[in-house]
Amino acid sequence: MKLRRVLGNDKNSTLDPFLLLDHFGSDNPNDYINGFPWHPHRGMETVTYMWTGEVEHGDSMGNKGTIKSGDIQWMTAGSGIIHQEMPKKYDGRMDGFQFWVNLPWKKKMTNPKYRGIEKEQIPTIGKDGQKVKVIAGRIDGTEGPVRDLSIEIEYFDVELAAGKTFEHVTSRNLTVFAYIVNGSIEAQDKVIKNGQCVVFGEGDSVKMFSKDGARFLFVSVEPLKEPVAWRGPIVMNTEEELNKAFEELDKGIFIKSHKLAKLS
Ligand code: CO
Repeated sequence: MKLRRVLGNDKNSTLDPFLLLDHFGSDNPNDYINGFPWHPHRGMETVTYMWTGEVEHGDSMGNKGTIKSGDIQWMTAGSGIIHQEMPKKYDGRMDGFQFWVNLPWKKKMTNPKYRGIEKEQIPTIGKDGQKVKVIAGRIDGTEGPVRDLSIEIEYFDVELAAGKTFEHVTSRNLTVFAYIVNGSIEAQDKVIKNGQCVVFGEGDSVKMFSKDGARFLFVSVEPLKEPVAWRGPIVMNTEEELNKAFEELDKGIFIKSHKLAKLS
């Protein structure tokens, strides 16, 4: 799988509680057709957003489905899940994004669950040269369909017309960043181009201006500020918990909950 790892190339490039952000974008199926075959997760969430393209997923408990263009899958691994994510051959360019979000220690061993959100469920608000898809959180009184999360996250997909500004109020101590997918923006006196990320410092609001138009993912969330013990697809607080998880995998006793709640 060829992809651009925007965050999480090493432990210093994570943005608490975000561990990783992958952008898989290609018009060549050979780049993505091998996908992500069977692998475990514990102690974290994966959030997959397809702009274009389709990903088939299945898990150790027999759940199956397809994330289609415009859809989101918000998967809480919690105590443990074994799944696969396999992109389908797609005509034209595929663009998808996957975040890994850490879970707080209190919720690491929660029951696994999926949220499958279809594109029709995601409200778009349009105003003054902006088109904002509200995936999670709230903007101008419009709330996204992903609610009651383990940790509260704002997740917007923003399209800015040329010469327009996106402004958003955030509270002081949040982790706030945007990943520019198309075009470029100006923020904090810098030009940030497609393929780059802008991380905002402490403050009460963000302002992003685009001279020629842009589309970006915008995220804000409260950091966990907890110790992170991370190996591959398993993210716990201590080495001991990590070792236990891998031991349980070896012994075939990794899966704790066979009741996989599917929420929509
Ligand atoms: Co996975």
